[in-house]
Amino acid sequence: MSVSTQFLPLIELREVVKNYQSEAGVYPALKGINLHVERGEFLGIIGKSGAGKSTLLNMFTGVDQLSSGEVIAHTNGKSISLHEMSENDLALWRGRTMGVIYQSFQLLPMLTLAQNVMMPMDMSGLYHPRKSRERALELLDMVELIDHAHKLPAYISGGQQQRVAIARALANDPPLIVADEPTGSLDSITADTIFQLFERLVQSGRTIVMVTHDIGLMPRFTRHVEIEDGELIGEGRRS
Ligand SMILES: Nc1ncnc2c1ncn2[C@@H]1O[C@H](COP(=O)(O)OP(=O)(O)OP(=O)(O)O)[C@@H](O)[C@H]1O
Ligand SMILES: [Mg+2]
Repeated sequence: MSVSTQFLPLIELREVVKNYQSEAGVYPALKGINLHVERGEFLGIIGKSGAGKSTLLNMFTGVDQLSSGEVIAHTNGKSISLHEMSENDLALWRGRTMGVIYQSFQLLPMLTLAQNVMMPMDMSGLYHPRKSRERALELLDMVELIDHAHKLPAYISGGQQQRVAIARALANDPPLIVADEPTGSLDSITADTIFQLFERLVQSGRTIVMVTHDIGLMPRFTRHVEIEDGELIGEGRRS
C-alpha cells in the first residue's frame, strides 16, 4: 500500500472468529476479536486456561486459519492480509518480521540447540552461515545454555528448552516478538531475568505481544487485554 505504514498499528485483528470442529460439534474459540498491536508496545494478553490465548496468538502469526475476519499487518511499508498470502510468502514474511515463542517450544528434535537457533537465520538468509553460528552461540550464552549448545533438545529440561526457544525467537533480531507463556516452565528467578530481557527489548524499540495467565505481570506490560471464553473483556494501560 502506501509508504506511511509507520503511522499505522503493526498488526490489526478485525472481527476475528475461530471455530474448532470436533466430534462434539463446533467450538467457538474466538468470538469476533478486534485488537490492534501498536508499534513499540509491550502488550500482555491475560486470561485463564482455555480462554483462547494460544488460539489468538496463532491468528497473529498466521500459523492457523481463521473462520472469519481479517488479520492485517502493516510492515516494511506494506499492508498485507495474512490469511490471503501463500504459505511460502507467509513463512518468509514471518521469518523476517517476527520471532515466535510457542507454548510447547517446538524445537526440532533432530537438530542440536545451536542448530535450532541458527535455523531462522539460515532460512531467512539475513546472516552469513558463519555469522549465524556465531550469533546462535552468543544467544545461547545469553540464556545460559552455551555449555549445552551441541546437545539435542531431548537431553535438556523443559525450562532449558524454553530458553532455547527464546534464543531462537531472537535470532533474526525481529521487530516483533510473539510469545506464548514464555516463562511458564521457568523458575521465578529465571522467569524474571527473561522478563527483564523483554523489557529491555521494548525499551530499544521492539514490539512484544506476550500471553500469560499470571495477573501479577499485569502492571509490567505497557498495555494489557483480558480474554475470557474467546472474548476480550477488559483492557488496561500502564500509567
Ligand atoms: N485444535 C483444537 N480443536 C478443538 N478445540 C481446541 C483446539 N485447540 C484449542 N481448542 C479449545 O479452544 C479453547 C481455547 O484454547 P487455547 O489453547 O487457545 O486456550 P489458552 O487460553 O491458550 O489455554 P492455556 O492457558 O491452557 O494454554 C479451549 O477450550 C480448547 O479446548
Ligand atoms: Mg495456551
